[in-house]
Amino acid sequence: MCSSDLPTRNLPAMAAIASTLADHDQSQLLTPPPPPEKQEDFLAKLKALDYPKLKSTFETSLSQSGESRNLAPFKDVTDVASLSAETAAGYRADGLANIAQGKTCALLLAGGQGTRLGSSSPKGCYNIGMPSNKPLFQYYCERISAVKRLAAAHAGVDEATVRLPFVIMCSHATSAETIAFFEKHDNFGLPKDQVIFFNQGTMPCFTLEGKLMLAAPGELAEAPDGNGGMYVALRESGVLTRLQKEGVTGIFQFGVDNCLCHVAEPTFLGFCQAQGADCAVKTVAKLHAHESVGVLALVNGKPEVVEYSELSKEMAEATDANGALLYSASHICVNWFSVAFVAGFMDEIAAGGMPWHVAKKKIPTVAPDGSAVKPEVPNGIKLELFIFDTFPRARKLVALQVPREEEFAPVKNAPGSSSDSPDTARALYSQLSRRRLLAAGATVSGDEGALVEVSPLVSYAGEGLESYADKALQAPVHLEK
Ligand code: UTP
Repeated sequence: MCSSDLPTRNLPAMAAIASTLADHDQSQLLTPPPPPEKQEDFLAKLKALDYPKLKSTFETSLSQSGESRNLAPFKDVTDVASLSAETAAGYRADGLANIAQGKTCALLLAGGQGTRLGSSSPKGCYNIGMPSNKPLFQYYCERISAVKRLAAAHAGVDEATVRLPFVIMCSHATSAETIAFFEKHDNFGLPKDQVIFFNQGTMPCFTLEGKLMLAAPGELAEAPDGNGGMYVALRESGVLTRLQKEGVTGIFQFGVDNCLCHVAEPTFLGFCQAQGADCAVKTVAKLHAHESVGVLALVNGKPEVVEYSELSKEMAEATDANGALLYSASHICVNWFSVAFVAGFMDEIAAGGMPWHVAKKKIPTVAPDGSAVKPEVPNGIKLELFIFDTFPRARKLVALQVPREEEFAPVKNAPGSSSDSPDTARALYSQLSRRRLLAAGATVSGDEGALVEVSPLVSYAGEGLESYADKALQAPVHLEK
C-alpha cells in the first residue's frame, strides 16, 4: 500500500512512518490502515519502536532457544526437615525479628495473562471454590496480616507498628482491574500505604517469521514482557528506591497462582539471612523423574532453572547413593532476593543483559481485509524474560526444600483439568487444613471430600489452633476470625 491510499489526518507523519516501516520490512502494520481516531497514538507508538533492536532480539532469542548447555546437579539444597528443631526455631525467630524491623517486603508477580486458566479477570481475583469463596489475592493479604501479627508478638511490639509492604507487579493486561479489586475490598485489611502497585513492561508479538503483529487495525499486538520484567520495572517505577528508603533489605517474591504460598515465611527469611545469600529459592521435591517442572541445576557451573525438556532421560532419572533424584529441586516461583543484589545489576539488565525466551502462542490478530483472526494453532511468538535468569549472577544462591503438600498448590489449568487446577488446589488446601486441625488434637468427621478451610487469620502455619484440641468438628468446616 502506498501512503497516499491511507485515510489519514496527518499525511506527512503517516508517510514518514510508512517509509520507516518499509525500510524495516514491517509495512504490514499499516494494512488494514489505522482508523482515524487511533492514528495519532498508533503513529506515536510505531515511531518509538527500535526496529533494528527488535529484529536482533527476535533473531538472537530464536537462535539461543535450542542451544545445548553443560548441566550438573545443584547441590546446595537444604531440606527443612533435616534442620534440628533448635536451628529451625532460630531461623524462624530471626525471620520474625526481620519482619518486625520492617526489613522485608512481599512481592507478588501478578502480571501474567493466565491463558491456561481461562478466566477473563486477573488470576488473583479467581475464587478457587473454598467454603469462604475468597479470591486468591485475599489469601495472600491475610497471610501477610497473620505473619505481621506473629512478628509483633515475637518482638513484643504493637502489631500496627509492623510494616510489611505488599508490592504487586501488574501488567497492562491486569493493572486496572487488580487495583480496582483491591480498592473495592479495602486492601483485604492491609494498610493502604503498605500496598504498592507497579507495572511491568510490554513486548510486541511477532509472527513466526519475525514480523510485528496487529491486535486490531491501528493497534499493535503486545504482551507482558514476562515475570523477569520485574527487575527493570522495579527501577523504572521508582519502587526499588522507595523500598531502599524505607529500609527494606530483602524481597520475598512469589507467584499469584500458588494458593498455599506462605507469604514472607519467617523460617525461610531467617535461613536466607543466616546463609548471607544474594538470593534464595524455595523448592519442592519432584513428584517423579519425569514431572514437567523446571529444576535448579548448575549450567556451565552457575545455578539456573532448567526446563524438564532440557534434561536427557538419563539425567532426569539419575539418583544419588541414597536413591534420591539428582535433578529434583523444583522451582515453584517462591524466591528471595537481597535488595542490594537486585539494585546491583540494574544497569546491566536495562542494557539488555537478560535472555528473552521464545513462546509460540495463539495470538489473536487481524487479516489484511480487517477481519478478526482467532487462530486454532500457534501463529506467533511472544518473547518473555524469566525471573530466575538473574540466578547465575548471584555470589551465593541457596535453596530451602519444603514439603510440597504444605506450600505448593498451583492454579494453572482450567477447572476439570487433572493437574494444577482450581480443583486440585482446593483439595490440597482442604487436606492441609484438616491435617493441621488433627495435629492440634481436633477430630474431623464427615465425608473425606467435604472441604475444610482454616483461614490464614486463624492460623498462619498450624500455630494458634490450641483451642480446637478435643473439639469434634464435622466437615465441611470453615474457621474464620
Ligand atoms: P506463568 O508462567 O504461569 O504464566 O506465570 P501466566 O501468564 O500466569 O499463565 P499462562 O501461561 O498464560 O496460563 C508464573 C507467574 O509469573 C507471573 C504470573 O502472574 C504468575 O504469578 N507473570 C507471568 C507475570 O507477572 N508477568 C508475566 O509477564 C508472566
